[in-house]
Amino acid sequence: MTAYRIKGVSLLGAEPADLFVRDGMISGAVADAETVDADGLVALPGLVDLHTHLREPGREDAETVETGSRAAAVGGYTAVCAMANTSPVADTAGVVEQVWRLGREAGLVDVQPIGAVTVGLAGKQLAELGAMATSAAGVRIFSDDGHCVADPRLMRRALEYVKAFDGIIAQHAEEPRLTEGAQMHEGEVSTRLGLTGWPAVAEEAIIARDVLLAEHVGSRLHVCHVSTAGSVEVLRHAKARGVRVTAEVTPHHLLLTDELATSYDPVFKVNPPLRTAADVAALRQALIDGVIDIVATDHAPHAVEDKECEWAYARPGMVGLETALPVVLSVLGEQWELIAERMSRTPARIAGLTGHGTDLAVGTPANLTLVDPSARRVVDPAGLTSRSRNTPYAGTTLPGRIVATFLRGEPTVLDGKAVK
Ligand code: DOR
Ligand code: ZN
Repeated sequence: MTAYRIKGVSLLGAEPADLFVRDGMISGAVADAETVDADGLVALPGLVDLHTHLREPGREDAETVETGSRAAAVGGYTAVCAMANTSPVADTAGVVEQVWRLGREAGLVDVQPIGAVTVGLAGKQLAELGAMATSAAGVRIFSDDGHCVADPRLMRRALEYVKAFDGIIAQHAEEPRLTEGAQMHEGEVSTRLGLTGWPAVAEEAIIARDVLLAEHVGSRLHVCHVSTAGSVEVLRHAKARGVRVTAEVTPHHLLLTDELATSYDPVFKVNPPLRTAADVAALRQALIDGVIDIVATDHAPHAVEDKECEWAYARPGMVGLETALPVVLSVLGEQWELIAERMSRTPARIAGLTGHGTDLAVGTPANLTLVDPSARRVVDPAGLTSRSRNTPYAGTTLPGRIVATFLRGEPTVLDGKAVK
């Protein structure tokens, strides 16, 4: 295994120093190491994404475990959690093991499968949570993401079931009766455009219900892609009561608003929908406060025919792995400690991914990313590594370039390009 001397790198904004990597670990000085010039670069612990759609099995035309892993590495990630809404659904030990094995074979990031809560994501019957937990994939997080576990009795039973092994239910909070036919955020813009609205209360009502259920059962709840100011208030209240709840926000909900729907460009269609500027402001503050624990991408690659069509027929979702850190940098500025906390340490801790999200100290696994904060780049969909092109940032200038990523001491990205 090659040893590396990452020369003159700034650890989370500190004074430049050399960082050595040997045998997969951060090490003391090594004499015959290969030099990586890191002048002007910042080192962060490898990013961890709790919410990635890899589309395999079933929609390999949009993404595969391998192409999504490569996009993740290019974005500075060393671990991703793969959502269960594949085809077939990841609701059995067999499917989660398949995804886990494909991730290992690709070897670009650690791929941790998330299991479905209910059979076929149909919301009727609990999936075999125990079998997925004890499988080789070692599933700890369960989610019907894309769908809400709307039945409160089923949600309660899921929370009770995973408590035995300290598992987590990650909820896509959307009261389906309040979002029938919804096309975008319900508000002034939807009224103007005459599109059916997705009201904030459809999210807030489910979060309120679920924090109460989690408190009642004493289980761990994670709330996916929080998108409204009201949800932040519900979470703040729950956390103050000591409820075991964590929450994520996506980069797009931190930056974009429902005004973009006026273009009728389906690249801006996403679920939950883009909200108002007031929601964006509340989400940013909650991320700084810690009421929202982490940034998760909700990387949702879609094939051209599913996105380049009429708004009403387009699938919701945006790719996000390769632009997440630049978007967060544009929102938070160079607050490296906070970025490491929200994009690496805390997601690794929530998902139980040991070896990720650790400080870059001697003797820890060398999972890290090197960023050039002074670089600016115009996002070009054709330049993305993901198999899909549905980025909402085409033509936008974003700060920060991911120069290199190391997974257990091996470079997966060098000079901004995937190594394999
Ligand atoms: O926009 C979304 N896309 N939201 C979801 O909940 C699911 C995701 C997808 O799978 O495309
Ligand atoms: Zn979702």
